[in-house]
Amino acid sequence: MKSPTLFKTLALTAVWGATAEAAAVDARTGTSPPIRNIYTFPNNTFIENIAVRSNSKLLITSMSVPDLFQIDPTVSAPTASVVHTFTNSTGIAGIAETSPDVFALVTANWDLANTRAYPGTLAVWKVDLSRKNKPAAISFLTWVTESTIINGLTAHPFNPCLLMGADSALGAVWRIDLTTGQHEIAFSSPLLTPTGTAPGTHLGINGLRAAGKYLYFTNSAQKFFGRVEVDYNGNQVGSIQIISNSTGDVVYDDIALDVQNQKAWIASHPSYAVKVGLVGGSQTIVNDTSKLLNPTSAAFGRGSLSQRKTLYVTNGGEFVGWDLINEGVVALDLS
Ligand SMILES: *[C@@H]1O[C@H](CO)[C@@H](O)[C@H](O)[C@H]1NC(C)=O
Ligand SMILES: *[C@@H]1O[C@H](CO)[C@@H](O)[C@H](O)[C@H]1NC(C)=O
Ligand SMILES: *[C@@H]1O[C@H](CO)[C@@H](O)[C@H](O)[C@H]1NC(C)=O
Ligand SMILES: *[C@@H]1O[C@H](CO)[C@@H](O)[C@H](O)[C@H]1NC(C)=O
Repeated sequence: MKSPTLFKTLALTAVWGATAEAAAVDARTGTSPPIRNIYTFPNNTFIENIAVRSNSKLLITSMSVPDLFQIDPTVSAPTASVVHTFTNSTGIAGIAETSPDVFALVTANWDLANTRAYPGTLAVWKVDLSRKNKPAAISFLTWVTESTIINGLTAHPFNPCLLMGADSALGAVWRIDLTTGQHEIAFSSPLLTPTGTAPGTHLGINGLRAAGKYLYFTNSAQKFFGRVEVDYNGNQVGSIQIISNSTGDVVYDDIALDVQNQKAWIASHPSYAVKVGLVGGSQTIVNDTSKLLNPTSAAFGRGSLSQRKTLYVTNGGEFVGWDLINEGVVALDLS
């Protein structure tokens, strides 16, 4: 559909197209794992983030559609059902599990051309899927009126009461109390900021995941993946560590952590999934221009051993004329 909003989303290509030059990536290109398509959404459903339930089902968000989607990747022809439609918003950004089968997510009225929420429209909700044989319980947590983008979202690594959110515009990490909705900036840093206001430079801290004592994050504009230790209240402890730098045309987006194997997988524009060693920062790049289409996020499967060896990567999609097409989720079978 040719709508003014989608016309504006075309500006997103400026982020994705970052540079037309051939990438001179300084890591060896590994043997690529097989990549399977799981589900392709209808045109113009810009897919943004993913969380995986303990029952193996995928929860998928779209920044251009206010539906929370659920997909069972274990069946032969997966379909996408709608868990809930957040009617007062235009799309959903980050999503994170905060207690067993309970998720938090961010909605807003998005100005997609600028990847920002219209001021005063950004909110955090809870989605409780833990009640046996009952529909999802949706509850409003809080507005975050001071933010125009909470992008990556994660539970605090060891404080069950806190949600942490990456503010790509302010260059900050928010802490949000999951009971009261009380929120404030936990810390900010020049290493979390964007480098400009135009698409391509306007997203600082982007992906966010937690493990051990740390928050792991990407800074898309500053082109690195790093981590920072936090205390129980989500305050920064010590300095930010850079684990790896993205080079050439690789633009890091959101992350899946494989702490057991000391690895992270970073969904990266325009056609990459990058495996990074958490110690030493070695990089292996999977490059697939037909199956990895502006990857926005990644998460490991849960449940069976084969699910746990599967990396699900969300594809933002690719523009053809006025339309965003082939957005969805694919599976990398890692052995
Ligand atoms: C990825 O593949 C595309 C198409 O073959 C190529 O143009 C690009 O340079 C490759 N990127 C890297 C980092 O090798
Ligand atoms: C949603 O919008 C309707 C109509 O504008 C309004 O009455 C309602 O309070 C809004 N709900 C929330 C949670 O903002
Ligand atoms: C990343 O880049 C920064 C700044 O150019 C440099 O100081 C740092 O050593 C690099 N780190 C790695 C792991 O490549
Ligand atoms: C999706 O967009 C493409 C590219 O514009 C177009 O060719 C195709 O017909 C569209 N599909 C539907 C179902 O509208």
